[in-house]
Amino acid sequence: MSNVERTLSIIKPDAVERNLTQEIQNIFSKNNLKIVESKKIHITKEEAAEFYKVHQSKQFYSDLCSYLSSGPIVVMILEGENSVALNRKIMGATDPKNAEDNTIRKLYGLSIDKNSVHGSDSIENAKTEINFFFKD
Ligand code: CDP
Ligand code: MG
Repeated sequence: MSNVERTLSIIKPDAVERNLTQEIQNIFSKNNLKIVESKKIHITKEEAAEFYKVHQSKQFYSDLCSYLSSGPIVVMILEGENSVALNRKIMGATDPKNAEDNTIRKLYGLSIDKNSVHGSDSIENAKTEINFFFKD
């Protein structure tokens, strides 16, 4: 049975800055995640605060919003079978130290905050996050 979903992926400033965009996009393609939309943007701290508002009570929230708005990011819609869970698996654990071998965060992440990529964590959040960046 087909279970094609869409999810939101972000290549964060640390990875864009190190010219890892193409390498990371190749990993998605190799894993049958089709990049149906992609754009490079630079958001404000206010926009980052809106995007990450689920984390507003966390002590890392302000630093997180400063970081996501600190430089260009690449936002993408990925489409494929079980794309939400598959993308999370390919990304690896939040802290690169704990990420499995060959995951994006293990390969490229610098630290728990500069961990190279974002991925939606549920189908519901994927819809909200896609709408946030790709209103039509
Ligand atoms: O990105 P992911 O869904 O794996 O993790 P999260 O728990 O939803 O946290 C969102 C982001 O906040 C992470 O990707 C990190 O960039 C950052 N974070 C942090 O800076 N320090 C922490 N202790 C936890 C998360
Ligand atoms: Mg998350």
